[in-house]
Amino acid sequence: MEFRCIPSPLAAALEGLSTQALAVGLFSDEQGPAAHPNLESLTARFGAEFPARLSQRSFKAKPGECVTLELLGSQPAALILVGLGEPAGFDGNALRGAAAAAAKAAVAAGGASLALALPIEGLDASHAARAMAEAAQLATYCDERFKSEPNTGRTQLTALDLIGVPAAAQAGLSAVEPVCAGVELARQLVAAPPNVATPQHLADTAAAIAGDHGLELKVLERRDCEALGMGAYLGVAQGSELPPKFIHLTYRPAGAVTRRVVLVGKGLTFDSGGYNLKTAGSQIEMMKYDMGGSAAVLGAARAIGGLRPEGVEVHVIVAACENMISGGAVHPGDIVTASNGKTIEINNTDAEGRLTLADALVYASRLEPHAIVDLATLTGACVIALGEEIAGLWSCSDALAGALLEAGQAGGEDLWRMPLRGSYKQGLKSPVADMKNTGPRPGGSITAALFLQDFVTKGLPWAHLDIAGTVWSDKGRGSDPAGATGFGVRTLVNWVAAGAPCGDPA
Ligand code: BES
Ligand code: MN
Ligand code: ZN
Repeated sequence: MEFRCIPSPLAAALEGLSTQALAVGLFSDEQGPAAHPNLESLTARFGAEFPARLSQRSFKAKPGECVTLELLGSQPAALILVGLGEPAGFDGNALRGAAAAAAKAAVAAGGASLALALPIEGLDASHAARAMAEAAQLATYCDERFKSEPNTGRTQLTALDLIGVPAAAQAGLSAVEPVCAGVELARQLVAAPPNVATPQHLADTAAAIAGDHGLELKVLERRDCEALGMGAYLGVAQGSELPPKFIHLTYRPAGAVTRRVVLVGKGLTFDSGGYNLKTAGSQIEMMKYDMGGSAAVLGAARAIGGLRPEGVEVHVIVAACENMISGGAVHPGDIVTASNGKTIEINNTDAEGRLTLADALVYASRLEPHAIVDLATLTGACVIALGEEIAGLWSCSDALAGALLEAGQAGGEDLWRMPLRGSYKQGLKSPVADMKNTGPRPGGSITAALFLQDFVTKGLPWAHLDIAGTVWSDKGRGSDPAGATGFGVRTLVNWVAAGAPCGDPA
């Protein structure tokens, strides 16, 4: 999509409008759209019957509410009014929501180009411009890869003019394409069925990113992982016909490196639960999305490869495999040894993600980074705690946690910090091994995070994001169409682009 800043205010911009659709945001008061200079400009441009047509449609200007007035034979051919709610509640997230709603309405009206007039007073103009452009791009994403007859008639939004946005914001818009490409890659990986998005497919995707953007790739095969003693990861993988792939992608910036960070993603391309088999009630048919963490880190790698930020060396790690049942699968009760020598009693084969992450985190720690961030669809307990809109964040470092919260906020991704309550580690005590992989049900997302912490070098800033709830949206929301959200990409990219702050002096 082409993005352009049009600095003039709406009244002036209406003169030179060249897009097929025009969307204008309106605040509400108790009755409906508040008297606003925009309304006057629109009436002046579209004629005296304009206010009457608007009231006919009982438009209340509630957040996200859109009304489309088709203007036959005129230019623009569609006028979209976008509700903004009350001015007091209008923030960066509301701006994203309004841009998303406008873009969807434009596509529905057959408008391939859209001029968008939303208020950005009080917001940083460059951030606001990026937020609107990202939202428009991501909200109109459509995935028909697995349809035999894709809808070829569907309108594609190809141009977005941002009215009232100073020209200085134009430079920042160059980041929108690579970031959205990263989010879209993550969505495609998550949405692909488990017979397509296999461990090999993740490795192939990493190879494509490496080839396209000059990243380094190393893929460790089963025997390589055996040599490294990755018994926890390989224990999970051993029930599957598909060979595991341990993926290590590296982005090296031009010039001096001031930070080295590792992004680790859970890459279970299908989680049947193993012998602690999932049931229909536990959504076994959705467990293709159990590689959402790996999709987020690969999407971030795609975006970072395109943006080429300075100063930060980024390692992306995915211990990809499936959790399946077979004569060779782990038994509930098996004891495995991770690559740091710790023994783990697998008291539940469905707590497999943390086993794969254990070896990935040991490997990540050995790269001696300034910080490690892992993303995982780790626990149903996190979904119960925070729902579909907010991911859980655990960190041993206040500075890293703060930086990630800020990066998420800037990207429209909500995180909530959760406690790493040390006393709950009692729940992971095993009578036979160093630890077991599953604690009691209460606080299940916390014990999962505590389990992971044991595989990170002490003192190294580390954060864990449980994205089990946010990886998928059944109905869609804001700039997420129904299905895979690509959650995590924007948080990671914003954090890296900000220099990967994590507390220590760079
Ligand atoms: N992949 C699941 C977690 C999950 C559940 C993600 C629902 C998305 C939606 C994970 O491997 C798992 O099965 N976790 C178990 C842990 C339990 C056995 C301690 C869970 O949450 O039930
Ligand atoms: Mn599981
Ligand atoms: Zn899982």
